[in-house]
Amino acid sequence: MTILLFLLAIIIVVLSLWLVNIYQKIHEIKNLVESFQRGDLRKRLYLKGKGGLTEIAQGLNQLAERCLSKDEEKDIQRERLLSILMSLPDGVVVLDRDKKTVLANTAFLDLFRITDYEIEGKAFTDIIRVPEVLDMIDTTYRERELSLKEFYYDITSRYLQVIGVPNKMRSGIVLIFRDISEMKRVEEVRRDFIANVSHELKTPITNIRGYTETLLEGAIHSRDDALRFLGTIRSNVERMERLITDIMHLSKIEMGYLTIDKRRTDLGISVERVLQLFRKKADEKGIEIINNTTGAEIEADPERLEQILTNLVDNAVKFTEKGYVEVNYEERVLSVRDTGIGIPSKYIPRLGERFFRVDPSRSRQLGGTGLGLAIVKHLVNAHGWQMMIESEVGKGTEVKIIT
Ligand SMILES: Nc1ncnc2c1ncn2[C@@H]1O[C@H](COP(=O)(O)OP(=O)(O)O)[C@@H](O)[C@H]1O
Ligand SMILES: [Mg+2]
Repeated sequence: MTILLFLLAIIIVVLSLWLVNIYQKIHEIKNLVESFQRGDLRKRLYLKGKGGLTEIAQGLNQLAERCLSKDEEKDIQRERLLSILMSLPDGVVVLDRDKKTVLANTAFLDLFRITDYEIEGKAFTDIIRVPEVLDMIDTTYRERELSLKEFYYDITSRYLQVIGVPNKMRSGIVLIFRDISEMKRVEEVRRDFIANVSHELKTPITNIRGYTETLLEGAIHSRDDALRFLGTIRSNVERMERLITDIMHLSKIEMGYLTIDKRRTDLGISVERVLQLFRKKADEKGIEIINNTTGAEIEADPERLEQILTNLVDNAVKFTEKGYVEVNYEERVLSVRDTGIGIPSKYIPRLGERFFRVDPSRSRQLGGTGLGLAIVKHLVNAHGWQMMIESEVGKGTEVKIIT
C-alpha cells in the first residue's frame, strides 16, 4: 500500500513537472507572439527538446525570418523608387484624395523655390497658389482624366508646364511640373525668324510687282522708263537672292552641316583676295584699304576664313564714309578696323543676332540682309575662336577675332 502511494506521489510529481514545463514553453511562445505583434520581428525562440511546442516555436521563427526579408525587400524597393523620384529633372507631387501632399521630390521644391521640406500632409493649396494650377487640379479630380496646362511663374520668371494624372489606386492625383522656358525661347526665336524673313521678302516682292504692272500698263513703250524699271526689278531680285543665300547658309550652319577643316593658311593671301572684291567700291568712296597681314600664317579653314573676312570688310566699307579700313593680325588677334560711323554701345551686345541692325532702312538701302554678323559669329565659334566688337560712334569700329 505504501509502495502504491509512493508510486502515485512520484507520478504526480513527474506529471506536474511536465505540466510546468509545458506551461513555461507556452508562456514563452505567447511572449514571442506578443513581440511579433508589437512589430519586433527580430526576436527568436529556441526551445529545448523535441515535440509539438518546439516545432511551433521553430515554425514561428521561420515565419518571422520570412516576413523580415519581405520587409527588407520592400524597404529596398521603396528606397529605389524614392531615389528615382528624387533624381528626376521634373517636379513630381503626389496628392491624396483630400488634396493633401503625400510626396514631393526635390525638383518640385526647386522649381517653386520651396525651402520648407516638411510639406508632407499639408494641403496643396497652402503650398502653391497659382490659379492656373489650382484650376487644373480641380479638373483632374473632377474628370479623373489626364490634363495639361502651361503657365508663367512670375516668382522665378519661368514658363512651366503641369500635367495632372489621376492616381487610380488611391483616388488622389499625381502632378508633374516641367520647366519649358528654353523650349519657349527657341519657339519664339523661330517665330521671330519667320516673321522677319517674310517681312524682308515682302518689300522686294511688292516692288517687283509694282514695277512689272507699270511696265505692262504702258511704261514699256518708253525705252528710258522701261530700262529704269527693269533695273529696279533686277536689284530687287538681287536683294531677294542675297537674302535667300544668307538664310540657306545660316540654316546649313545651324543644322550642323558645317565642317571646319583647319589647316595652315596663308592669311596675307586670303585677306588680299577678299580686299580685291572691295577695292573698286572703296576707291569710289575715297577710302583707303590696308592689308597688314602680309606673310602671316594662321590655322583656319581657308574657305570659311574668307567668308568671315568678306562679311566684316563689307560692313567696314559700307559703314565708312572717309578714312580707311584695315585688316591686322597680331598676337593671334585678327581684326578688321574702320574709321566709319561706329555703333552705339547699347547695341553692341545685340550684334550677331539674326536680322539685328542699328538702322534697318539704311542697312537695306546698302544691300544688307542683317544676317552677315550672325553668319560670322557662327563661323568664328565653329573655329573655336571668339569675336569681340569695339566701337565708338563717329570714330569707327574694330571687330576682333581671337584665334
Ligand atoms: N563696321 C561697322 N560699322 C558700323 N556699323 C556696323 C558695322 N558692322 C556692323 N554694323 C551694324 O551691325 C548691323 C548688322 O550687321 P550685319 O549682320 O552684317 O548686317 P548688314 O550688313 O546686312 O546690315 C549693321 O546693320 C550695322 O548696323
Ligand atoms: Mg553685313
